[in-house]
Amino acid sequence: MTETAQDWHEVEALYDLCFAPGREALSSYRLRDDIPPVSGLSLVARDRDGILAGAIRYWPVMVEQAETLLLGPVAVHPTRQGEGLATVLIRESLGLAVLRGWARVMLVGDAPYYNRFGFHRLDGVSMPPPTNPARVLGQALVSGAWDGVQGEVTRWPGN
Ligand SMILES: CC(C)(COP(=O)(O)OP(=O)(O)OC[C@H]1O[C@@H](n2cnc3c(N)ncnc32)[C@H](O)[C@@H]1OP(=O)(O)O)[C@@H](O)C(=O)NCCC(=O)NCCS
Repeated sequence: MTETAQDWHEVEALYDLCFAPGREALSSYRLRDDIPPVSGLSLVARDRDGILAGAIRYWPVMVEQAETLLLGPVAVHPTRQGEGLATVLIRESLGLAVLRGWARVMLVGDAPYYNRFGFHRLDGVSMPPPTNPARVLGQALVSGAWDGVQGEVTRWPGN
């Protein structure tokens, strides 16, 4: 289900539960401050009682002149992990991103987990420090979309 304004605080609480304290001090959050997530791509998964089980958000960023999606955060409640919920959230949202015309997506995360979704290390693309370059991953949603795209990841213009 697409995230709506009513979901915002519940999703924040889920992220607080699933990530280490101080997650908003991460450098990737400087790319997100005061910029809304990409609507229509950010999804929530609820159980039949309406309890939030998982969520994924995307932000728009620039890699030099190239418009790029930043995937994350994605999190699944500890009591629901290992059921494939993140897999569904990631695959479904990536499919929506293709339909909406996004050409490329990147994230900061564990390669052993994200390889299965088609993400690989992005050489020459640098997140604001301190970010381990081995965790900067991406994939082309349109063939060749990362070819020649390198440089610093910066905030979406206009905010
Ligand atoms: C990572 C996370 C979103 C996965 O959610 P999930 O719904 O449990 O994932 P799925 O059920 O789709 O996939 C589970 C598989 O991923 C594997 N996996 C999870 N995290 C992994 C990691 N960091 N590295 C490698 N594999 C990982 C599990 O071992 C499991 O493997 P299996 O299918 O071989 O049993 C969830 O564990 C979570 O919210 N973690 C805390 C927040 C977080 O780290 N988010 C990702 C930030 S980059």
